[in-house]
Order: sequence, then C-alpha cells, then structure tokens
Amino acid sequence: MVPSVLSADFANLADEIAVIEKAGVRIVHLDVMDGHFVPNITIGPPVIAKLRKVSNLVFDAHLMISEPERYAERFIEAGADHITFHIEVAEDPPKLIDKLHKLGCSAGLCLNPETPVDSIREFAPLCDMVLVMTVHPGFGGQEFMPEAAKKIAQIREIVGPDVRIEVDGGIDPETAPIVVSCGADTLVAGNAIFGRTDRIAAINAIRDAFNT
Ligand code: DX5
Ligand code: ZN
Repeated sequence: MVPSVLSADFANLADEIAVIEKAGVRIVHLDVMDGHFVPNITIGPPVIAKLRKVSNLVFDAHLMISEPERYAERFIEAGADHITFHIEVAEDPPKLIDKLHKLGCSAGLCLNPETPVDSIREFAPLCDMVLVMTVHPGFGGQEFMPEAAKKIAQIREIVGPDVRIEVDGGIDPETAPIVVSCGADTLVAGNAIFGRTDRIAAINAIRDAFNT
C-alpha cells in the first residue's frame, strides 16, 4: 500500500506523511507534474528536499514530466529513493535506467492507459518496477479504467516475479482486489486515503480488501 499525497492537504504535508507513517506504511508516492506532459502542476525538488528532512519513508517519485533525463538527478539529490518516468517521453530508456542505478536510485517505467505493453517490452526487465496507469495522469480522484488493468497480466509475463508492478489511479477497496488478481504487487492510492477524514482507517480498508 503506497499512499499518494496528491489528494493530501498540501499546506500540511509533513503532518499528512507522519500520519501514514504511523499506519505502518513504508513508501510514499510523490506525484510530480510539469503542466506540459500532463495538464496540471504539482511539486518539484525543493518540496521533496524539505519532506526528506521530516520523513524516513521511502520516496517513490512519479515523474509526469516531459524531460525526465534532464531532471532525474535533481530529484535524487532532493531525496527520492525511487524514480519512475514515462515511456511516452523517454528518449533513451535503458540509458536513463542505467543512470538512475548508478546514482543509487531504483528505476521504474510507467505507461499511460492508452500506451501498449509492446512499448516497454524490451526495457521492463531492466527496471525495478513497472507502473501501470489506470487513469489518465494529471489528477487524483478519477475513475479506475478496467481496460488499462488488463495490461498487468501481460507485463507480469514479461518481467517475471522479480520486477514490481505498481498500479496508480482509482485504487480503492473495490478496485484493489482486481489489480492484485491481475498480478500487481504495489498499489498507489490517493483520493481513497486522503479524501477520507480517517486516513489510517482508509489505508486499512484497502489492505483488508486485497488480503481477503
Ligand atoms: C494521477 C497520479 C496518481 C494519483 C492517484 O495522475 O499519478 O498517483 O494521485 O490518485 P487516485 O488514487 O485518487 O486516483
Ligand atoms: Zn502517481
């Protein structure tokens, strides 16, 4: 269970992260948007660097930006432990994966709902994680797209058991079991957690849903 702070109270991010840490969460998903690759703008390295000082969680940075090669290093310097970039805008995926690894960061490759599995086939086994979008990236609180989730099983066949498959978009207690049954092992949830008053109960509700 990986909470995305996109739907959290951005004026109180440190407190929001402290609450999920108390729930036993190990990883927090940080959505980085540039207003170019996606029609929204969120946070960048300065915010991540400040969060790094107040949290020991693993920082899973999801770069929804047009030039991941140009900025990846800055996110690592800011404190990202894991960086996921989009195949739709990557110029040379193996080169960027290699660079991330050399800088001590794990690497993820992400594909949008309409992007075919073939686009990542060659590179996915080089990564630590593949991130399957089940909404169009840009905003929290959108409806889960079941068609996009069908790609999870195909990706699992390609990468085997050792590469993590993370799913992002519209995950809640109802959709979590669907993606887990397709072969996903890491679930991002934003609105289903931070859209609720009791964040800890919301995290437990999703966990209970896919453990049963
Ligand atoms: C969407 C982001 C997601 C988002 C998911 O562009 O990449 O991480 O926070 O939010 P929910 O869970 O609300 O769909
Ligand atoms: Zn995300």
